[in-house]
Order: sequence, then structure tokens, then C-alpha cells
Amino acid sequence: MSNPQETPNTSSSRLDSGEHHDVTELHAAVLREKPDPVEGFEPVNLWVVAGIAGLLFWGGAYLTQYSGRFEAMEFSELPHGKPAPVAAVAADPLAAVKRDGMIAYNAVCALCHGEDGAGKAGVAPVLAGSDWVNADGPNRLLRIVRHGLKGTVKVNKDVTWNPANDASIVMGSQWDAIGGTNEKLAAVLTYIRSSWGNTGAAVTPQMVADGLAAVKDRSAEANWTQEELLQVPAGGAGAPVAAVTPDQLKAQLQALPAEQRQAIIKELSK
Ligand code: HEC
Repeated sequence: MSNPQETPNTSSSRLDSGEHHDVTELHAAVLREKPDPVEGFEPVNLWVVAGIAGLLFWGGAYLTQYSGRFEAMEFSELPHGKPAPVAAVAADPLAAVKRDGMIAYNAVCALCHGEDGAGKAGVAPVLAGSDWVNADGPNRLLRIVRHGLKGTVKVNKDVTWNPANDASIVMGSQWDAIGGTNEKLAAVLTYIRSSWGNTGAAVTPQMVADGLAAVKDRSAEANWTQEELLQVPAGGAGAPVAAVTPDQLKAQLQALPAEQRQAIIKELSK
């Protein structure tokens, strides 16, 4: 039974004892209102949130597409920046060899001769336009890199290097530095003979093997002099193609890496 002291709770009045206001109604009114925004914490428009999310997504997609694997050289304008595109390899069967040669040249020879082959005063003579580099064949050139060079050198009609025959100006053997193989030497020589306006024909590992066979007993410390080199015919191993027999040509082709050989064969069978 209900306590007779209690104010009866009729349906028209929801007031509890001692209450003068209907709290349920008051609370409902308060709950309907959003809290006053605090400065600096105002809710952000959903469209802005969606817009930022969209931008982030687009940014991620853009980076995935165009980041160039985050390799700095990817965006370099220098020729060694990008790996030669496949089309270029097919167009120039020697592109891979030249690239190989360029890497060795830049790592070893460029310290003295410069990446542009322009030489450095008091350090090393010019290779761009050099008679030694552009010679008919690589016989003298390969000896210079194999055993080094000392003394006065007439580089071209305008440049006589080390005219005072200074014994302290020497190029030592670069054979070990470039990797010590016929392939590497051929690649370096092919690169310098086809760069910076030079016009020498490519040098094959077979030419290097033939050219070095004659001097296999010479020590790496025995630097050549100009006088000695001028006794060696520049051509010979680098003789014109007409003097190569079909068998020799076949052997030279077989000495090339498979993909290069195939590129040449494809080129010829067009
Ligand atoms: C330590 C410095 C140095 C390095 C490294 C060097 N050379 Fe030389 N090079 C010289 C000097 C010095 C001479 C001239 C030597 C003399 O006075 O007879 C020379 C001469 C030459 C010549 C003949 C002269 C000319 O200008 O054509 C050629 C070719 C040559 N170097 C190619 C190379 C190649 C290729 C490499 C890398 C495999 C190389 N050199 C690395 C210092 C260097």
C-alpha cells in the first residue's frame, strides 16, 4: 500500500515531493541543445574532412605513380642518370657496353681527366679530341690504360702535355682500378672513343685480348713513353671490318653478351 504521506503522483503532475519544477521536461530541453562550442575546438565541417582525405589519397597515388622509386638520379639531366631505356638499347647495340664503360670511367679516370674528358691543368691531359683516343685502332690506347704513361705527350695539334718531361707527372696502370678484365677495358675505351665529340670505333674484348697478348710479360710499373707507343701500329687489332674473316667475326660476336649479340642479329635481319 502507498504511504499516505506521499504526494500522489497523478498523471498530470510528475513532480516528486519537494520539487517545484518538472525536471524531466527541463532535462529534455537541456539535452536537446548542443553544448556551446569552445573556442578552438569548433567541430570541422565534414566536407573539409572528406576533402583532406581525398587530397591525401590523391597524393599517395601520385607518389606511387611518379616518385621514381625515390632515386635521386632518376631526375638527373646527366646522361648517366637514367638507365638506358630498352628502345635505346635496341637502337644502339653498344648502349649497354658504353654505359658499363661510363661507370668505370666516372669512378676511375674522371678523377684526373674530368667527367667531361676535358682534362685538368697540371693533373691530366684532355681526352676529348685527343689523337690517342681517336686513333684508327685501340692498340696504343689499350697499352696506356694497361701499363700507364709518362713523359712528354703530344695529345693533339694544340696540346703538348708535360713539355718539360716532368718525371712526377705520370699516369699509372689503371688495369686493376677498372676491374682488370678485357671486357672492362674494352667498355672504357669504347666509351671514351664515342663521347665528347670523339669519333673512334668501338673496341671489342677480343681486340683488347689480341692487343694485350703481345705485352703480357710487361710489368704494370713499366709506364709507356710516347716514343715507345709510336712504334706500335695504332690499328691492327683494331683493323677495319673488311679485313676480318667471317670466322673472326663469328668469334667476336660470340664473345659479346647474349643480349647484345641478339640485338645486333635482330638489327641485321631487318
Ligand atoms: C691519377 C690521375 C689519372 C688517372 C686516374 C687516369 N689518368 Fe690518364 N693520364 C694521366 C696523366 C698525368 C697523363 C699524361 C701522362 C704523361 O705525362 O705522359 C694521362 C694520359 C692519358 C692518355 C693519353 C693522353 C691523352 O690525353 O689522350 C689517355 C688516353 C688516358 N690518360 C686515358 C685514361 C683512362 C681511360 C683512364 C681511366 C681508366 C685514365 N686515363 C686514368 C692521369 C690519369
